[in-house]
Amino acid sequence: MQSPLIPNLSDQEISAIDNEIAHAPCRAAVAIDALKIVQSHRGWVSDASLQAIARHLHMSAAELDGIATFYNLIFRRPVGEQVILLCNSITCWIKGASQIQQQISARLHIGLGETSADNQYTLLPVTCLGACDRAPVMLVGEQLHTHLDDAALELIFRSREEAEE
Ligand code: FES
Repeated sequence: MQSPLIPNLSDQEISAIDNEIAHAPCRAAVAIDALKIVQSHRGWVSDASLQAIARHLHMSAAELDGIATFYNLIFRRPVGEQVILLCNSITCWIKGASQIQQQISARLHIGLGETSADNQYTLLPVTCLGACDRAPVMLVGEQLHTHLDDAALELIFRSREEAEE
């Protein structure tokens, strides 16, 4: 019998995870995919969700947590509707990532690791996104924004605001 403290995965989540398992050498091999699937449905991976995934993959929660912690695109705390992942690795840093961070922080009134009061955005640092030739860069949701400067930020946030209206 399953613990009432551990929520069940939804049918949709189970079906998507099982689809990955069908193409993998073992259940544990889909750990990151399973974490991403659950995160895409729930926004983040709580301790209880992590336990439910671990149970489905026949892994220990500690083992899965180690993987989730290592992989920085898995959110282990609640995040806003959109997550801004601002690259702070060397090339982006040299190209002004810290000034970009200050601009974003001033605009959204949040620091790194924080979520805006309206729950729209969470700002997180991330290591190299593999677009160093277009530094500085950030991901907003799944969209990569490159060659960031004041004008680019203005355009990005203004078009997002207009899209919400
Ligand atoms: Fe920022 Fe590589 S250092 S994308």
